[in-house]
Amino acid sequence: MDGLDALRAKVMDAISGASDEAALEDVRVSTVGKKGEVSLKMREMGKMSPEERQEAGPALNALKNEVNSALAAKKEALADAALNERLQSEWLDVTLPARTRPMGTIHPISQVWEEVTAIFADLGFSVAEGPQIETDWYNFDALNIPGHHPARAEMDTFYMKRAEGDNRPPNVLRTHTSPVQIRSMEALGAPLRIICPGRVYRADYDQTHTPMFHQIEGLAIDKDISMANLKWVLEEFFSIFFGIEGIKTRFRASHFPFTEPSAEVDVQCSWVDGQLRIGEGDGWMEILGSGMVHPKVLQAANVDPYEYQGFAFGMGIDRIAMLKYGIPDLRAFFDSDLRWLRHYGFAALDQPAIHAGLSRT
Ligand code: DAH
Repeated sequence: MDGLDALRAKVMDAISGASDEAALEDVRVSTVGKKGEVSLKMREMGKMSPEERQEAGPALNALKNEVNSALAAKKEALADAALNERLQSEWLDVTLPARTRPMGTIHPISQVWEEVTAIFADLGFSVAEGPQIETDWYNFDALNIPGHHPARAEMDTFYMKRAEGDNRPPNVLRTHTSPVQIRSMEALGAPLRIICPGRVYRADYDQTHTPMFHQIEGLAIDKDISMANLKWVLEEFFSIFFGIEGIKTRFRASHFPFTEPSAEVDVQCSWVDGQLRIGEGDGWMEILGSGMVHPKVLQAANVDPYEYQGFAFGMGIDRIAMLKYGIPDLRAFFDSDLRWLRHYGFAALDQPAIHAGLSRT
């Protein structure tokens, strides 16, 4: 076909001369584009005799392929060159100081969780854990709460569905941290001193209840333990936690299936100008449930009740956090409102410690 060599030479020149991607695109359009020179030549084949076409076809196809590869190669070369130029002209001063960023804060519940743990660790308690999805045996039966017991209904339990045909009793979202008493005694035997901070769940939602909240369980088992030990430990705890020496507690007779005798414990408080002050005055604020571990509970966990006895208590972490830090609304704990967190949160690197201070902000 006439003029193909000249066309090839012209196009190749244009490609190698293109100085940027836009110029290269112009070359592409004017050669292999719809109305480009190479494309027009291909269209001319329609008017050729079969013999002519047999010769021109492969030659044109070869040219088209050649042009396309040259375009692709040039495109890559131009992109490389552009990148090299940027790398040469732009630079980064890695010695510049980092931009300051607003720092996150520790949530008051995490803070209080750590504070409580630090205090009880100092009193010789270790931290135990248990699952949040619990069998009804650990959550109820082993704690002397049999099937018909009203406490089961009172606790507004979340039951987990069993698979079709599985007739075992449903698992529950643990309604309290008390099942960890059983698990710890089973695993570690007696004597024993543990606390268990953790999440618990009840189907309840209003101003003072959220479906998930936090408790801390305490358990001390030994051969010579009495309510007097319980009272001392709790008063020691409250004094350190609220930072007020000699806080008094009041024990009121109560009933829990897993303790005998049982007591609800109040701490000393006063109301000044509508403001609650813990640790002073002659008012009382209910804080927790407690008692001497019921012999049936010891038995359920394979601890001999004729040899050992102990005390247990359970209190709400959210509640003591609200009391200590003057947080009025429980539900705000779970709103994830950054402004609230900045206001009530704690500095990230200040770990609570008895010797270094519990609650610096
Ligand atoms: N488990 C109880 C609740 O969630 C709290 C409690 C009361 C725990 C007395 C105890 C205890 O260990 O001795 O309401």
